[in-house]
Amino acid sequence: MSAGNVGARANTGRGGLRMEQVCLRYGDGDGEVVALDDVSLTVDPGQLVAVVGASGSGKSSLLAVAGAMRQPDSGHVHVGGVAVTGVPAKQRSALRHDLVGFVFQSSNLLASLTALEQLELVGRIVRAPRAATRRKALALLDEVGLAAKAGRRPGQLSGGERQRVGIARALMADPAVLLVDEPTSALDHQRAIDIVSLLVDETHRHQIATLMVTHDRSFARLADRVIEMRDGRLGPAGLLAER
Ligand SMILES: Nc1ncnc2c1ncn2[C@@H]1O[C@H](COP(=O)(O)OP(=O)(O)O)[C@@H](O)[C@H]1O
Ligand SMILES: [Mg+2]
Repeated sequence: MSAGNVGARANTGRGGLRMEQVCLRYGDGDGEVVALDDVSLTVDPGQLVAVVGASGSGKSSLLAVAGAMRQPDSGHVHVGGVAVTGVPAKQRSALRHDLVGFVFQSSNLLASLTALEQLELVGRIVRAPRAATRRKALALLDEVGLAAKAGRRPGQLSGGERQRVGIARALMADPAVLLVDEPTSALDHQRAIDIVSLLVDETHRHQIATLMVTHDRSFARLADRVIEMRDGRLGPAGLLAER
């Protein structure tokens, strides 16, 4: 983590996310599921791409491969300009820590830590200087609108506020790529719009390549680009043919 580097456009000069002809299958024989079927996708720095698809269409699989958590059966993935396919698991894990941020449906916060401590933990793990880490954490909490609630634990925050802490925490490590899985499914409509708008703003401000997957197309208009996913395949919104 480049501690203290909270300023805008921290990611300038790094690449975004590039996936080329990616295939991923689960199981084999009769039980085989093709989760990703020849998927190619580029997300540029400073761009939020929304992938919209029904449950089971392959969205979480897409993020698992994009974030180097799962190796595809074929195809190539570049994260922040670095090839992550064909890399041994240990190195992939290091690349993931350097390059990828995750925001999940449930924000996965630690119940005993305050919002500020959740963010500071990221700095502590990489042994970044304490003062710079605190400055950065406070600046990010301010960005997501939680400056006044830095001392609250998850139980003292609303669902939308917890999601904001999760977003700020994901930004602590200056990721080149931000992967977001169903960020709005636990929120009411207005809070969901606020969260997606915040993700768009932070994507532009920090020049991150953000890939957000959702089954809910009502937020798609907020994204820089919308892609549809069906049966493991990607296509332009509204134009994907039935198989
Ligand atoms: N670990 C797994 N083992 C076998 N099949 C899986 C596994 N994970 C997902 N699948 C299947 O792969 C397809 C895509 O799943 P997933 O990527 O979770 O879709 P989504 O996130 O859009 O709901 C589905 O048919 C699902 O049942
Ligand atoms: Mg999913």
